[in-house]
Amino acid sequence: MQSEAEPRALHAAIIMDGNGRWATGRGLPRLAGHRRGVEAIRRTAEACPDLGIGTLTLYAFSADNWQRPADEVGGLMRLLRTYLRNETQRLARSGTRLSVVGRRDRLPAGIPEAIAAAEAATAEGRRLHLRICVDYSARDAIIEAARRLEGGEATRESFGAMIAGEMHGSPVEVDLLIRTGGEKRLSDFMLWEAAYAELHFTDRMWPEFGEEDLALAVADFAQRDRRFGGLKSSRVMVAA
Ligand code: FPP
Repeated sequence: MQSEAEPRALHAAIIMDGNGRWATGRGLPRLAGHRRGVEAIRRTAEACPDLGIGTLTLYAFSADNWQRPADEVGGLMRLLRTYLRNETQRLARSGTRLSVVGRRDRLPAGIPEAIAAAEAATAEGRRLHLRICVDYSARDAIIEAARRLEGGEATRESFGAMIAGEMHGSPVEVDLLIRTGGEKRLSDFMLWEAAYAELHFTDRMWPEFGEEDLALAVADFAQRDRRFGGLKSSRVMVAA
């Protein structure tokens, strides 16, 4: 647990919702909203270090999103491929380490290799750890970890590490969980890691989200009194 005297970088996680509604509300195809969503990813990641955020986890594609129409799924996969191709050098230059969290065995051909290449090229980044969740399901990760346990001993730490490992991730507790787009639900995202996360919901549609919205969410977080089930207050001093 963090004491007030030790500022540390926060882990913020975002459910990027509202791309479709943003687009259809303007008479555009849903994919136009996802394309604008990529710009919001760039803006938001760039704003993180100055706001004291050291890890940013973004929910780009859930395991349940495979149920969407094939053209939308295909479009999102193309956006992912383009993102990996176009952004890797920029991320490396800005000191951002990129990880892709989620299953890789169902992704279209070539994408797992592109992910591995982007992760290797940005591995030295220390300013921000950007984690993009693709084909991710928190419940599937928990089930797979439980299956592997086979009656063995587990602590919260060791089981948490197993859950994260199922999705190619690392065990990082979420401090601040943001959902854009006006809905108030978790949608199978970071269910273990967000056990004590502070929740922030905003009506802003993801394509319009930016530095000011992130700053508002961090300011809201800084007002929260985190007690982690105890009585002792541990208000986190944001390391901006
Ligand atoms: C949810 O909004 C958003 C998604 C399912 C996709 C999020 C994807 C991006 C932001 C861009 C893709 C980026 C990469 C790097 C792959 P929704 O479409 O469900 O919105 P709605 O609730 O308004 O329909």
